[in-house]
Amino acid sequence: MGYFRENIEKMAGYEPGFQPSSADVVKLNTNENPYPSSPKVLEALKNITAEQIRKYPQPLGDKFRETASKILDVKPENIICTNGGDDLLNMAIRAFCDENRALAYPTPTYSLYPVLAQAQNCPIIEIPFDEEFNLPVKLASSGAALTIVCNPNAPSGTFIPKEELAQLAGEIKGVLLIDEAYVDFAEDNCLELVKKFDNVIVLRSMSKGYSLAGMRFGFGVANENLIKGLLKVKDSYNVDTAAIAAATAALADQQHFKNNIQKIKIDRKILTEELTKLGFQVAASQTNFVLAKPAKIRAIDVYEKLKNRNIYVRYWAYQDIKDKLRITVGSSGQNEILIKALKEILAEGQKNG
Ligand SMILES: Cc1ncc(COP(=O)(O)O)c(C=O)c1O
Repeated sequence: MGYFRENIEKMAGYEPGFQPSSADVVKLNTNENPYPSSPKVLEALKNITAEQIRKYPQPLGDKFRETASKILDVKPENIICTNGGDDLLNMAIRAFCDENRALAYPTPTYSLYPVLAQAQNCPIIEIPFDEEFNLPVKLASSGAALTIVCNPNAPSGTFIPKEELAQLAGEIKGVLLIDEAYVDFAEDNCLELVKKFDNVIVLRSMSKGYSLAGMRFGFGVANENLIKGLLKVKDSYNVDTAAIAAATAALADQQHFKNNIQKIKIDRKILTEELTKLGFQVAASQTNFVLAKPAKIRAIDVYEKLKNRNIYVRYWAYQDIKDKLRITVGSSGQNEILIKALKEILAEGQKNG
């Protein structure tokens, strides 16, 4: 018998996007925000005292909960602070799933979901999206204890209208977790469903829209009963003093946040148009990335050739997306470097082909 549980022996684990150590690269592979967080964040971090970090942090991140409750128009009791959105996914799978209680989700989607389910050793029900990434009808009758819908979805960038998710919440027997990690870049969101349904959890991340990927802060919004249950499975101090201070300052500065989002939306449009001109097929994105399928060259070859130029995008060898690249919307300058490199790569391909 090995040291590990059998399911842990068998699983591969999550593979994060490459984090190059050199700053001299164009990094468009992990959907970080290209713009810095609010200056208030650094101010808040500078104001942290040795006395504050001598002590444990607030177990529930009270300051953040209060600020978020005002901005989102919910009660602090409807919010759970988490060590990134990933922490909430982990808690939810631990709280709702086991060997007899399945996790369901449409595919392709965030590759962490199956990894967490494998660690929990629960059955996994994967239901493929159609070509247009519509919500699969079969999801409603899967019988899963927990259904996760990433909306907007990663890696497609597509958005499912909230009316359809409301219908799903009403139809399923278990809990519906709507992963809104990218919702800051979308035209709508599903927050109001937590007031209408007692089985809906909305996940939010401070990593993308608020430029705090390095701080690790996310949160969940749901009715009080669900939050109380989730609190039982969280690490005792899952968010630290610095992260609470940074996330609270970032969230409070809504003007800075809105300006950054606006810039990224404009650049997303330009990037989509430029890629389309180069023959890429690009799904309409409501996120800070685009999923792009090259026409006359394999996605993996484009990925490698970009990497040789110190430009990093994301490529997965999975069956349903191996012909595509996921490209984070960078700053205007980064996007221009990417497009210039792609033009050269495609021209080289024509010369050689
Ligand atoms: C779909 C999706 N959900 C959740 C997360 C979690 O983000 P974080 O833990 O940085 O808040 C990510 C991160 O990339 C993501 O892509």
